[in-house]
Amino acid sequence: MARQEHWLPLSAGGACGRVRARPGWRISLVDQAGEPRDDRGVQPAFNSAFKPAFSFAFNGPFTAPSHRLKNPMQLASVVFYGRSGEQALAMFNLEGDLEQWRDARVLDCPGGPGSLSARLRGLVGEVVAVDPLYALPEEELEQRALADLERTMAGLRSSPTLRPDFDLEACREEHIQALQIFLEDRRRHPEHYRNASLPELPFPDQSFDLVLSGHLLFAYAPLRDGGLSSSDAFDLDWHRLALSELCRVSRRAVHLYPAHTIERVARRHPYATALLAELPPGWRGAFCASRYDQGHDGCTDALQLERITAATSRPSAAGSA
Ligand SMILES: C[S@@+](CC[C@H](N)C(=O)[O-])C[C@H]1O[C@@H](n2cnc3c(N)ncnc32)[C@H](O)[C@@H]1O
Repeated sequence: MARQEHWLPLSAGGACGRVRARPGWRISLVDQAGEPRDDRGVQPAFNSAFKPAFSFAFNGPFTAPSHRLKNPMQLASVVFYGRSGEQALAMFNLEGDLEQWRDARVLDCPGGPGSLSARLRGLVGEVVAVDPLYALPEEELEQRALADLERTMAGLRSSPTLRPDFDLEACREEHIQALQIFLEDRRRHPEHYRNASLPELPFPDQSFDLVLSGHLLFAYAPLRDGGLSSSDAFDLDWHRLALSELCRVSRRAVHLYPAHTIERVARRHPYATALLAELPPGWRGAFCASRYDQGHDGCTDALQLERITAATSRPSAAGSA
């Protein structure tokens, strides 16, 4: 059986209690970069003396070598990792196309520590970003984003999925700048950063005109299905629910990126092809080449969906509920 890891973050201001490993499993204390912090193996109890920056990793079973060694970009959890507004506009093919969304309500889900909201603010009617980690205070968000950035960069430096000429250092700088712009924008507009998780969003039907979703669907499909996840949490059934929820809250359009596998020579993602063939009633969609370059060759498509039945008039408060 392949080795698995489950992460229990201790980021909610410390924790007090007992953790017990199932037979054949081991619990270890790691820091945010996934580095071991305690070599006692089993840690039977923990208390608030541990810094909130640490996590427990439940590792096991230990009967087979880790697949992780063969594929450094395997991720046990979704990283809090964000692109710049310019990168996101390229991802979703919106550069030069913003005029038509001038009065639109736009949802960015997940927003992560990216600066898309800041880039769109003032150019569209309203922009709301959603992420489960927005519940955290600013200092923790920043620490988490920086740790996840370094963890991801370490994986990417040795990843066979990137073109050798891809400039990772420039990419790292862009992420750091995006993070600073995100933190500043969230400080100024806290009400536009909402804590929520797919596949259930706390918004009425059709409360946004345009819904954007980058680097969660398809990217975090299980490894065997062309994504990054070492777990099955984001399987095809989860994707069905998540896409249906994104369509529910949109009046006019949903743009998703990537719609391709995470491989050196990327292919159209099999889940994207499956979901395009079974869109919710009243929707149609198409793959579109994306201008965003994250270092893959091959097909780097985005998926764009539009509502073809008449949209209802917009509810007055996108943020209600
Ligand atoms: C790799 S980041 C992508 C951020 C941004 N959209 C981009 O393209 O740069 C993925 C984000 O998904 C968030 N996330 C994880 N599980 C989620 C869920 N069930 N629903 C919504 N967001 C989730 C994570 O907190 C993380 O910030």
